[in-house]
Amino acid sequence: MKSLFYSRFFILLPWVLIVIIMIDIDTKRTSGRVPTHPYFSRLSHGHRLDGTLQRGTSNHSSLPTVYAITPTYSRAVQKAELTRLANTFRQVPRFHWIVVEDSNIRTELVSRFLAHSGVPYTHLHVLTPRRYKRTGLPRATEQRNAGLAWLRGHRGAQHSGVVFFADDDNTYSLELFEEMRTTQKVSVWPVGLVGGRRYERPLVEKGRVVGWYTGWRADRPFAIDMAGFAVNLQVILTNPKAMFKRRGSQPGMQESDFLKQITKVQDLEPKAHNCTKVLVWHTRTEKVNLGNEPKHRQDTIQIEV
Ligand SMILES: *[C@@H]1O[C@H](CO)[C@@H](O)[C@H](O)[C@H]1NC(C)=O
Ligand SMILES: *[C@@H]1O[C@H](CO)[C@@H](O)[C@H](O)[C@H]1NC(C)=O
Repeated sequence: MKSLFYSRFFILLPWVLIVIIMIDIDTKRTSGRVPTHPYFSRLSHGHRLDGTLQRGTSNHSSLPTVYAITPTYSRAVQKAELTRLANTFRQVPRFHWIVVEDSNIRTELVSRFLAHSGVPYTHLHVLTPRRYKRTGLPRATEQRNAGLAWLRGHRGAQHSGVVFFADDDNTYSLELFEEMRTTQKVSVWPVGLVGGRRYERPLVEKGRVVGWYTGWRADRPFAIDMAGFAVNLQVILTNPKAMFKRRGSQPGMQESDFLKQITKVQDLEPKAHNCTKVLVWHTRTEKVNLGNEPKHRQDTIQIEV
């Protein structure tokens, strides 16, 4: 009798275990579909402009808002680049994306993209005058200034925030936004894959910036890439004339020309472990090969890329 019980028991045991495991896997799958993570709740409220976290577990409303100004222009890789950025920015609490198109209209592609991006945003546009669209001239000047003008028109002394120039051809780590969020005046950090080197960085001694590690024009007052600094919103508002300059500005001098209007090298706040960690990369997307693209549409439908 006893041996019969044991033999039954050992035959059944593996089956019982399999059933338990199956039930467990199934529960995990189902719970994965339930929108418990703040990401999902933010996604459905993405069109809101105030950047408040809707149903997150933590209270972010006391954090300064990160305002990222992104100039963008129509080209084959535009939507791919913006998608990569949105996938990062969507995960940053208290974030406001200011997207400025180089165009005389808000294009449908970018409008549609932003509406579904899940990121709180403002969509602006300003066309670069044709005479400035030449190689050797600085780019995106008008678009960055339009972003600054919007902030000056829509934000005031009561708003706490940090302004950052987020070009659409870079890759940003989430950690970067937590570093820049505590910017009191102007903060700086290293940038990877830029200036013909693996990285460029501000040289820091005793917590102060004392020089620049760069492969290109080290004589620049601020030898730093656009992706290498952030400015407190109040500094932007209390220096209403600080702008990116067309006149007399050489490529690569945009950052210096702008920063010298609002700060001094010795006042810069080093971030990213005293400028020893790379948290942003000037990746740039390879120029796409459209060599086989037909002159006239051959497909039966029209597809946005
Ligand atoms: C979040 O924090 C702010 C200030 O720290 C407070 O005024 C607000 O009521 C808090 N909101 C929630 C939902 O806890
Ligand atoms: C940066 O350097 C300063 C001065 O040497 C030091 O006090 C501080 O702890 C350093 N910060 C980090 C994050 O390493």
